[in-house]
Amino acid sequence: MNTKALDKRHVIHSWSVNDNLDPTVINESAGMYFTDEDGKRYLEFSSGLVNLNLGHQHPTVIAALKEQADKLCYIHPGFANAARSEAAAAIAAVTPGDLNQIFFTTSGADANENAIKFVRFFTGRNKIISKYRSYHGGTLGASALTGDNRRAPVEPTMPGVIHVPDPFSYRPPHGVAEADLTAHALEHLRYVIQWEGADKIAAIFLESVAGSGGGYHPLPDGYLKGVREICNEHGILLVCDEVMVGFGRTGKWFACEHYDVQPDIITMAKGLTNGYVPLGAVAVSDRIMEKLNAEKLWAGLTYNGHPLGCATAAACIKVYHTEKLIENAAQMGTIVDARLAKMKADHPIIGDVRNIGLFGCIELVSDHAAKTPIAAALQAKIKPMLMARGLSTLVKGHIIFVGPPLIITEALLHEGLDIIEGVITELSVSQ
Ligand SMILES: Cc1ncc(COP(=O)(O)O)c(C=O)c1O
Repeated sequence: MNTKALDKRHVIHSWSVNDNLDPTVINESAGMYFTDEDGKRYLEFSSGLVNLNLGHQHPTVIAALKEQADKLCYIHPGFANAARSEAAAAIAAVTPGDLNQIFFTTSGADANENAIKFVRFFTGRNKIISKYRSYHGGTLGASALTGDNRRAPVEPTMPGVIHVPDPFSYRPPHGVAEADLTAHALEHLRYVIQWEGADKIAAIFLESVAGSGGGYHPLPDGYLKGVREICNEHGILLVCDEVMVGFGRTGKWFACEHYDVQPDIITMAKGLTNGYVPLGAVAVSDRIMEKLNAEKLWAGLTYNGHPLGCATAAACIKVYHTEKLIENAAQMGTIVDARLAKMKADHPIIGDVRNIGLFGCIELVSDHAAKTPIAAALQAKIKPMLMARGLSTLVKGHIIFVGPPLIITEALLHEGLDIIEGVITELSVSQ
């Protein structure tokens, strides 16, 4: 049997009706492109699942991975090893404030799982608050934190999580005016804390810029600062989930830096290893670790601090520095901002565009005032149309995502956006 037949017979794909799938077979990749089994090349415009920040097959990272594989593939996590020490130090050097101690996991979901344990151990409290338009991972604890439509089908999950509405300007809760979003959301949060019991709430988990749960959207001015103040008032910890937006995606090392807010914990994965090796991490402040270091830590995994993952992470962080990729994301982001704004002005089918750094999305609607997503039949055409034109990106219903690797050049950025705009023009005609 060939690759596709074996896939069909034996592979279970995630988040899919498996019977409906006909996945393209990919054999090779390099830099900004990957190639299918028929030799067709695709421009990478979503960074895989928003993790390939350095693009495909970055030679420096591959070399570090190979070197580590030759030296030490695995060691009991109770031992120290150079790869883990160096990766932890490199992360501590780029995280904001005093997030100096790092617990390694294998993914974003289990980074959040372990962060749940840490906040409970530290505060002795049980409950957690998160937002509705959020995604924090597919394991059951992380699914409990998740507010979007991936939670309900797997309930019951972990008890004790309370969801609050999002200060999302395009689709605001209760039709709140944009200018009032922050005040409304913070007032609601205070109300929830009052009635749930401030002394029962261990932490608030938030994506610093919301990712896949409904199209990227940054937090409005003053919101995260307000949440931080509320946390301080009540001894609640603030956990920023930077699994998707950490490591330069938004033009800063970590997206919480846009709001000048210091979280107590940051969870990360994806761009940490550029997706080449599964690795996640929980970065914890000195204040929290002072307490947790003095007690037995009831958390662990066989692959805690995996040398291959850690060597890859250390190499990636070096590349982010040497190739000035955080700066490039910020600079390329200004081009995306301008192009998306112009597209919105030129194409009535576009209801909204949002972008920060290289983290953008385009919402296609059939009715501007009602913000009705374009018809399902039209939505289904978007991805095949883009792929036929040699561009691969994430499409979620009526939303097209723009998230190319941070290594992208201005010329390729325009090339990709031209392809997207061409498809939008065609969709407008057939609407
Ligand atoms: C914000 C956020 N948190 C957590 C996760 C889960 O990460 P993983 O898929 O590595 O478990 C994701 C994945 O997309 C994410 O976007």
